[in-house]
Amino acid sequence: MTQSTSVTLTSKDSKTLCELPVLSGTTGPDVLDVQSLYKQTGMFTYDPGFTSTASCRSAITYIDGEAGVLLYRGYPIEQLAEKCTFLEVCYLLLEGELPDHQQLQAFERNITLHTMVHDQLNNFFKGFRRDAHPMAIMVGVVGALSAFYHDALDIRSKCDRQMTAIRLLAKVPTIVAMCHKYSTGTPFMYPKNKLSYVENFMRMMLATPCEEFEPNPVLVKALDRILILHADHEQNASTSTVRLAGSSGANPFACITAGIACLWGAAHGGANEAVLNMLEEIQDVSRIGIYIDKAKDKSDPFRLMGFGHRVYKNHDPRAKLMRETCHQVLTELGLCDDKMFKLALELERIALEDEYFIEKKLYPNVDFYSGIVLHALGIPSKMFTAIFAMGRTVGWISHWDEMIADPEQKIGRPRQLYTGAARRDVPAIHGNAV
Ligand code: CMC
Repeated sequence: MTQSTSVTLTSKDSKTLCELPVLSGTTGPDVLDVQSLYKQTGMFTYDPGFTSTASCRSAITYIDGEAGVLLYRGYPIEQLAEKCTFLEVCYLLLEGELPDHQQLQAFERNITLHTMVHDQLNNFFKGFRRDAHPMAIMVGVVGALSAFYHDALDIRSKCDRQMTAIRLLAKVPTIVAMCHKYSTGTPFMYPKNKLSYVENFMRMMLATPCEEFEPNPVLVKALDRILILHADHEQNASTSTVRLAGSSGANPFACITAGIACLWGAAHGGANEAVLNMLEEIQDVSRIGIYIDKAKDKSDPFRLMGFGHRVYKNHDPRAKLMRETCHQVLTELGLCDDKMFKLALELERIALEDEYFIEKKLYPNVDFYSGIVLHALGIPSKMFTAIFAMGRTVGWISHWDEMIADPEQKIGRPRQLYTGAARRDVPAIHGNAV
């Protein structure tokens, strides 16, 4: 991070208000450093939704929304999706470099040895209604991890933070699968150490004590890719939530839970479930026009789910990869004529040719196709956001770790533009009532 120049802020009558440094990162837009603004002028900045605000410095993920570029630690997402496994990408995000063979083996082994959850954690599930949404259960149970693992909680220790990262990466898939099993009333499946990370997760989700799970390499690869594509996305809403929660020095398991809660919303990770629900509601290609019109109608809250993104204004590079995976999975399963897939393709085609979507730069995002893939893998739509959370866990931990290690780190505390009543006295009648 270097200071390239500065900007002088002047009032309408040409009075100099202050001088603010302009900082440059490795790549991407420069930032105006407003840290001294309040001290110099008595004014705050106002930016609801943080559309022009860099909340921190970070060396993890880079996005160029105009060009449709996504880099993890400098590597393009297309190359990572093609050449790496999810666990290699996890190592990269956490450690900053891709692992060599030995490092990868040790990392995989370490995670494998932590996949079981404390047996008493099982009791938490019983407290939930069986029709509870898996994300509701996940928020409760991942939060409960903070009550179980107390031996590595010195957040200033890199070693303790690594231990927490391993525990979360290892245990979140087990918990996600348990959420699914609980909601279907089938027995929990314990992890199996001889399986890979994704095979193990699929088995815990899809096998039963009566029916073993036979991994299909194409489907395993597809889920691995889904996790890679969801692993990190810079300062998105849930990651910023984790950073804000962590900035107070809170328990890391609780901070990750805050991220899970934020991800749940339909504008964020909840979109993959919402896409499938939307496609089911549209039912048929002949009804697409009705939904396109609804999406364009300002008096109708309906939005085309899986379309649009705060940062990508040209295309979402993850959507292209997801579309490719969708095709591979449906071909493998002999489902190329799948009604849902055809409906999605047609909806995409019509929306991309529509003036409203062109003008507002609304393109399919990663969630447009991920739901169809997960559905084809036999995963119910209520589980989609939990699987997004499983992929994003590594991103949340990497950002939490980076923040704690940053010497500039302080508690996050935004200010506001107050629009409520000015100071006033309580009327006498209320005083008399006491
Ligand atoms: N369908 C119809 N209109 C839309 C849509 C959509 N999906 N998305 C945005 N618009 C319109 C919106 O009404 C607004 O119109 P106007 O300027 O006339 O008021 C304009 O486009 C800009 O929208 P915005 O809400 O101001 O943009 P944003 O950057 O705040 O929101 C978004 C981004 C992703 C929340 C939004 O595009 C959306 O709600 N999409 C559907 C939900 C979705 O697919 N979310 C997954 C995001 S990718 C996964 C992730 O990273 O979490």
